[in-house]
Amino acid sequence: MLRDSTSWYNFFNGLLAGDSNGGKQMKIGILTGGGDCPGLNAVIRALVRKGIFHYNDQFVGFLEGWRGVLENMVRPLDLEAVSGILPRGGTILRSSRTNPVKKPRGLERCIENLNANGVEVLVVIGGDDTQSVSQALFERGVKVVAVPKTIDNDLSGTDFCFGFDTAVMIATEAIDRVHTTAEAHNRVMVVEVMGRDSGWIAIYSGVAGGADVILIPEKPFDPDEVAEILRRRHDRGRFFSVIVVAEGARQAGHQNQVSSATAKKDEFGHVRLGGIGNELAKQIEQRTGFETRAVVLGHIQRGGSPTAFDRMLATRYGVAAIDLVHQGKFGCMVVLRGNEIQSIPIHEAIAKTSYVSQELIDVALSLHDRVPEEATKDS
Ligand code: F6P
Repeated sequence: MLRDSTSWYNFFNGLLAGDSNGGKQMKIGILTGGGDCPGLNAVIRALVRKGIFHYNDQFVGFLEGWRGVLENMVRPLDLEAVSGILPRGGTILRSSRTNPVKKPRGLERCIENLNANGVEVLVVIGGDDTQSVSQALFERGVKVVAVPKTIDNDLSGTDFCFGFDTAVMIATEAIDRVHTTAEAHNRVMVVEVMGRDSGWIAIYSGVAGGADVILIPEKPFDPDEVAEILRRRHDRGRFFSVIVVAEGARQAGHQNQVSSATAKKDEFGHVRLGGIGNELAKQIEQRTGFETRAVVLGHIQRGGSPTAFDRMLATRYGVAAIDLVHQGKFGCMVVLRGNEIQSIPIHEAIAKTSYVSQELIDVALSLHDRVPEEATKDS
């Protein structure tokens, strides 16, 4: 093969960087699956820029997550396509919760379309559901590299997913804002944040925003105990309170989340959550007589521009993922351990959920109102 000066540069650069294929140019597919997340575009940009500048790669974007691979919906991805997207939320490739495993000949159709587009390696940016399909395709011989994505931060094997920091910033700002209204009106304000299985957003934003009670899926709660904490606060002259509740939190002794979860399930079998904040507000008002209002942050936490931290993390993931492609480390996911980017097998990352640590729960509990009854009697 004849090489021009750029590709010779890339070839030697690749050798110097220790790439196993010496910087051989490749045709790479990219998709973003599952719920959108601030920083998706930053990953796409990093992949494409390093891929083109460093390895002379070519890219094709599959639209709307796995739907694009199933139905062969593609768009070219070149330098022009990724120009200006770093600060943009959402994803220029769009997303969906399509699950090829649930479709007739789903995985086979994916493989056919990857081949039809000449795709040698597929980079999949997504959470555990999306990556379960990556693993299934990898087991059928597809060369896949994974990038962890979810504002919920519940993918195991990585300390942080990009998008989480942005969601926490948004939730913290919202808590700060309802704080002043709660105080002005002597109200209890319940702020419902996202977090299906893990309470990462709730605990980070709750502690950062100075919430008085934080309820997470990891620790089923007792509404009587919550009411008692609020009464004690009231007794010592704090006539307002802020509660942060994760959408997936559940009442002790109850099988399902106390929420208005609809029966409708997505293609990965998840019910749509949301509504526990309103339910809890009712229960608190009934028990305490304190005026209680709920605010559901919902998708506001997923929208808009990523924080600088998330742009940086997303960029590091994108750069590391394209390097994995050229090192031939397939079936792997880039992860953050401490402050180092590493990689682990995808099957390890999706095997279990990452839950909030006991240390963080203890930090939150240390700050909750626990005034002993004797002390309140004398005051
Ligand atoms: O997985 C991230 C997440 O934001 C969850 O916290 C939430 O339950 C779910 O996505 C909502 O998804 P959708 O936007 O598809 O309803």
